[in-house]
Amino acid sequence: MNRRKLITLFLLSTLTLIMGMMPLHAQDPAPIKIGVAVAQSGTASPFGVEQVIGAEIAEAYFNEKGGVNGVPIDIIFQDAGTDENSAINAFNVLMNQENVVGIMGPTLSQQAFAAVPEADRVGVPVIAPSNTAAGIPQISPFNARVSAPVTVLAPIALKTAVELEGVSRAVVIFARNDAFSSSETQLFQSAAAEIGLEVAAVLEYQTTDTSFDILASDAIGNEPDVIVISGLAVDGGTLVRTLRELGYEGVIVGGNGFNTPNIFPICQEYCDGIIVAQAYNNQVETDINLEFRALYQEREGRLPGQFPAQAFTGIQVFVEALIELDNTVGLDSFADDLAGLRSALNDTLLLLEYNTPIGIISFDPDGEVIQGNFYVAQVVMNEDGETGTFSLLVSVNVMPEEAEATEEPVSTPEA
Ligand code: ALA
Repeated sequence: MNRRKLITLFLLSTLTLIMGMMPLHAQDPAPIKIGVAVAQSGTASPFGVEQVIGAEIAEAYFNEKGGVNGVPIDIIFQDAGTDENSAINAFNVLMNQENVVGIMGPTLSQQAFAAVPEADRVGVPVIAPSNTAAGIPQISPFNARVSAPVTVLAPIALKTAVELEGVSRAVVIFARNDAFSSSETQLFQSAAAEIGLEVAAVLEYQTTDTSFDILASDAIGNEPDVIVISGLAVDGGTLVRTLRELGYEGVIVGGNGFNTPNIFPICQEYCDGIIVAQAYNNQVETDINLEFRALYQEREGRLPGQFPAQAFTGIQVFVEALIELDNTVGLDSFADDLAGLRSALNDTLLLLEYNTPIGIISFDPDGEVIQGNFYVAQVVMNEDGETGTFSLLVSVNVMPEEAEATEEPVSTPEA
């Protein structure tokens, strides 16, 4: 061995020795744990799997940008399933075992009414990523949502159907065992009355139903030119399929449960033409949306829909509120005070404005999202009958005290 190699070997061994004596990553601060409890299993998983993708993209994106002033975030996922008890269990694990600073979830409003009171008792801030029923922010001072309520979305969808398709006689159908669907149908029915759309019948079913032949025949028998459905993805998609198989050719307006490309494999070619109001449109060319869209597309090979965009936004709210809290009070001051940190985080997140993929948002004192831009889209299925897009029909800007639709439907880019 020559002299040069000997010196190199000596230096390497010394370095290894020194590194071995140093505690591993002594200089790295512990990551800040944020919980995500969404439906990774059960019939709400068509929404939940998309929310996981949005949260994972957000975790990587914000950590790449330095996390919370140099401290990374660590998202802890806990499957909230599709029922109330699974959501409660997921919340409890995240709050009491994982000691997260806040939770994003659950997926369904039905679950939120059961699980959020648990977070309220412990004092953990919760961001609802997709709960759209009336009354969600009011469950607890610790609950805010980034998912615009049905009060805004349902009338927009129905008005568009009347204006663009000239419909005049509706049958309204909803899932009576689901809090969001029961809430949304009320809005659809009020909106119908307001715009002079005759409602020939209001029909009910349960999200657990698997056969829709009788319901669909009943609906068609009322001779509607528009059928308005408030349900979740699996039951709603199956109902659409049954209506079309039984020969219904009129317009279908779907509620927020239809707002995911994961309905496409369920109603397949029969999804074509469904009109849906959306709180997110992937064609919006803000910097943050372009970045989010590119990251989603790179990972999934398609463009993002509303559920992952709202999930990304929910994590963004936590991260930016934590940064603000660190800048103003200092997270160090909560070193041994998780309860204090959770409470201060809740107070802080309600006060900020956020530039997100779903637009610029803030919260009212109850935690209700304040958002300006909404969209109405129509499903266009591809020839494979399995994939499709949400094509933009109308953009709506809802400012306080006013709602103004674009005069002409805009072109229909892919969603
Ligand atoms: N928007 C649906 C709900 O609130 C997913 O339950």
